Amino acid sequence: MRAATAYAHPNIALVKYWGKRNDELNIPATPSLALTLGDLRTTTHVEETTSSVVVLDDERVDDNKINGWLAQLRRQFDLPHIRIESSSNFPANSGLASSASGFAALTLATSTAFELDLSLQEQCDWARRGSASAARSLHGGFVTLEPRENTCRVSQILHENEWDLSVAVAITSDRSKSTGSTIGMTASRDTSPFYEAWTRTTIDAFGLGLSAVQNKDFPALAQVAEASCRHMHALMLSTEPSLIYWNAATLHCIEAVERMRAGGINVFYTIDAGSHVKAVCESDAVNEVSDRLRQFEGVHGVVVSSIGGPAQLVSER
Ligand code: PMV
Repeated sequence: MRAATAYAHPNIALVKYWGKRNDELNIPATPSLALTLGDLRTTTHVEETTSSVVVLDDERVDDNKINGWLAQLRRQFDLPHIRIESSSNFPANSGLASSASGFAALTLATSTAFELDLSLQEQCDWARRGSASAARSLHGGFVTLEPRENTCRVSQILHENEWDLSVAVAITSDRSKSTGSTIGMTASRDTSPFYEAWTRTTIDAFGLGLSAVQNKDFPALAQVAEASCRHMHALMLSTEPSLIYWNAATLHCIEAVERMRAGGINVFYTIDAGSHVKAVCESDAVNEVSDRLRQFEGVHGVVVSSIGGPAQLVSER
């Protein structure tokens, strides 16, 4: 019986993408830049079986994204029925990028178990078809995802040990996000009057973010990352019907991060399609940053993470 287990870390975008150029191939409209969260992980086991089953965090599910992904894979490769079991050490579907780590781990486990013989770039292509941000989770450290004609280029900009930053993730809700990213970003593209401005300014932001990371220039990265986050949420707010992911605790955390930075701490915030606030800071400040965020009403807890490495194979047979 063929089987393999792999894990991958989620990643958080500092220059974000929200909107696709090609829905069928799942190609983002704009380039993005992210960092990998090493202390959060999704572990996925796949094995040959007699009827296909998907189990996510101990619950048997009928997941459209995974089913669609498997159907595409079967068009290209001769695969048996597969049992997929996946679990994360952090809440799924809440804006913590579980689909990124999930599809990265699933791609690596599946391609190993069934000897699909995929290069790293091909693994990135398949992971991207499940969730575009998943392509970034096959690499570690700081990673870019850039749209090309019928694919995307994925590159590691800095290795996970090259810049000693950490992330304090303030968990501000225990519910799943209200609107998933695929539906949300299609609605933004179709209805927001600001969509064209968003894609145009994101291309400039990507260039600035890239050189800030290459030069390890924290203030420059803070400025571009916070602006990208606010612009994306402004686009979401201007979508019909409106996509409001923030809650009161999100705003308290934003203010706290701004106050800490004004007080001399190198820290900035970023928020994805959910209400949690990720405070990125120099590692020696992470305890202070997480203690401050933990004080607010509505903050259920703070998870601290260092920057993580690439997806890894755990076992195969
Ligand atoms: O690719 P998806 O469906 O996981 O969407 C990712 C969307 C954001 O996390 C909000 C931004 C990003 O670039 O990761």
